[in-house]
Amino acid sequence: MSDRRPERPSPAASPVARILVVDDEPSVRMLLRRLLEHSGYAVAEVGTGEDALERIRRAPPDLVFLDLQLPDRSGHSILEAIRAEPATRLLPVVMLTGLATSEQKVRAYELGVTDFLAKPFAPDELLPRVRSLVLLKQFADEHEYAEHMIVTLARTIDARDPYTAGHSARVAEYALLVARRMDFDATTLLEMRRGALFHDLGKIAVPDAVLLKPGPLTAEERGVIQKHPVVGTELLAPMKTILKSLPIVRFHHERLDGSGYPDGRSGADLPLTVRIVTVADIYDALTTTRVYRPALSRETAYEMIGDGVRNGWWDGEVLRELQAANAEVESETPPDSPDV
Ligand SMILES: [Fe+2]
Ligand SMILES: [Fe+2]
Repeated sequence: MSDRRPERPSPAASPVARILVVDDEPSVRMLLRRLLEHSGYAVAEVGTGEDALERIRRAPPDLVFLDLQLPDRSGHSILEAIRAEPATRLLPVVMLTGLATSEQKVRAYELGVTDFLAKPFAPDELLPRVRSLVLLKQFADEHEYAEHMIVTLARTIDARDPYTAGHSARVAEYALLVARRMDFDATTLLEMRRGALFHDLGKIAVPDAVLLKPGPLTAEERGVIQKHPVVGTELLAPMKTILKSLPIVRFHHERLDGSGYPDGRSGADLPLTVRIVTVADIYDALTTTRVYRPALSRETAYEMIGDGVRNGWWDGEVLRELQAANAEVESETPPDSPDV
């Protein structure tokens, strides 16, 4: 996910929606501009693919009309570039088609086109579609903003303890390294990444005196900390987009033999994505400095997690994949690059 901060959407007083028209024919651009401006939209126009991408990067619009064939690049490649950029992946794109073949349309669908508009346009048809697509963009903005706020909150919670700053982001990174070596589809990877980012959100309810205590915890204090998977799940439950990530938040301290918390779940009831995040979580905790001990070496961490695997707590295959993934990253890192 890009660090670009989504603008806060303002559904109550919606600003004028901005529409970008990308077509090399000035007459098409003029017609669309006239129709859309007449309905109160702010319209910008460009005639080439490169100008379109530059403009979208500089000031992402709320909707793009994109010609299939531009002088410098195909509409397909522009669409692909828009979808590849996190800041514009949900931007509605309507492809303008004259004599598009069905292969060209199928390709556009595969790349994530939102809609097609055949030239010449019928204004009666055009404007209701524009209204609903602009509304779709507002929903997307609200969704992005809500998710951004939760990620910020999760980071803030990590940062309460200087020793755990960046923990959730690193856990997400390790988990993805492992999962990419296994057979997961893109949606599952996204759900797992969200679960990893939010896995300790429930620590918001743990008082500083307990969370930051340098010495050993009392049984009561341990009980308070051990509530964080349940608290996190309850906080996130109202967000529909997070629903599939909730098992990771709730079960990341469970063990395969049922000796973990909060529910004592075991074996097949712990999905592979949960097992991956669990190992990633422990690995990051062991290899970073904590108030009660310095960071352990990677090898010591593998040994300790290996002991847990032999005890029946954690998934040995996940540990092997983590070791392989880390070794691969290391082999790709130039020898004199500084440690990060
Ligand atoms: Fe946790
Ligand atoms: Fe954690």
